[in-house]
Amino acid sequence: MLILCIESSCDETAAAVVRDGREILSNVVASQVDVHARFGGVVPELASRKHVEAISVVINSALEEAGVSIDQIEGIGVTRGPGLIGALLVGLSTAKAMAWMLGVPLAAVHHMEGHILAPLLEDASPEFPFLALAVSGGHTHLYRVDGIGRYRTLGQTLDDAAGEAYDKVAKLLGLGYPGGVLIDRLAVQGDPDAIAFPRPMLHKPNSDFSFSGLKTAVRQYVDKCHEPIEGRHLADIAASFQAAVVEVLTRKTLRTAADEKLERIVVAGGVACNSGLRARFGELSAKHGLKICFPSPLLCGDNAAMLGVAANYYLENGRHADNAVNAVSSWPLDAAGAA
Ligand code: KG4
Ligand code: ZN
Repeated sequence: MLILCIESSCDETAAAVVRDGREILSNVVASQVDVHARFGGVVPELASRKHVEAISVVINSALEEAGVSIDQIEGIGVTRGPGLIGALLVGLSTAKAMAWMLGVPLAAVHHMEGHILAPLLEDASPEFPFLALAVSGGHTHLYRVDGIGRYRTLGQTLDDAAGEAYDKVAKLLGLGYPGGVLIDRLAVQGDPDAIAFPRPMLHKPNSDFSFSGLKTAVRQYVDKCHEPIEGRHLADIAASFQAAVVEVLTRKTLRTAADEKLERIVVAGGVACNSGLRARFGELSAKHGLKICFPSPLLCGDNAAMLGVAANYYLENGRHADNAVNAVSSWPLDAAGAA
């Protein structure tokens, strides 16, 4: 089945053509990073306006790159939520109009479902069941994944998401936006043991996370410094912050995998691009005999191809979205799978 996928939940306008929930024929992403950078974060109204400007161009590019004409499309998959409501509505309204016009079915996909199933588009795809650590700007969640549409939340952040913590710490260090990749690059040059930042929730016997206290610890450290922070000192702060995030994410994920008796782990979402996280999980997979999958970087950040796996499954199984389906800003993944 040839599916056109559309994603517009935050600050990336994306469209892709995916065959049989497996083969990516195109995956076009128009980023709005430059628009939001000067505000230090995503401005929702600006994001919606930019999606309106970009959506048709991105869809046409995705069809063109795939070498597919619009009348060959057999179904449409779209992000229904969670995300910024105005941003979501641009993609969802376009998807609904196209599905109606073409007379093809529509699948409403959960944004995080897209992220955690992205590795199924690649060669080293994991078998079910697996544990998914979803780490992005809005999520830090551990899910048990028993199949497509069969998700159970095992733990989540109680305050900031990991990506959000990266972005806020980068801002307070004056590094710019989006902060994750900037801290990651700087961390490579610093000493991860230079500053003993806290490891929040590490010893709590559950699968929940918390990153707001860690961000505050970095702020307090910075406030106490009397000279400008630059050079090696800046790199040491970045490396020490990253070490704290990586230790909490990896140790709690491994503990949860052991509790659930799961030997396969997927790490997905924008923060899954992080070099420190990839390296540490790589060491741990060898040591503990676990299979740990990271999607390739283009499939970690927001994109539309990642929706193709679930969209194909739902459409093949007659789980079509009604044309009255609406966007939802918050939507637990467990409920999405049960819909
Ligand atoms: O999944 P994503 O593209 O969008 C959301 O759904 O939120 O994730 C974006 C988040 C941002 O917070 C960004 O700073 C973070 O992922 N990120 C990173 C890295 N690349 C992106 N965080 C740490 N290290 C990275 N290399
Ligand atoms: Zn995302």
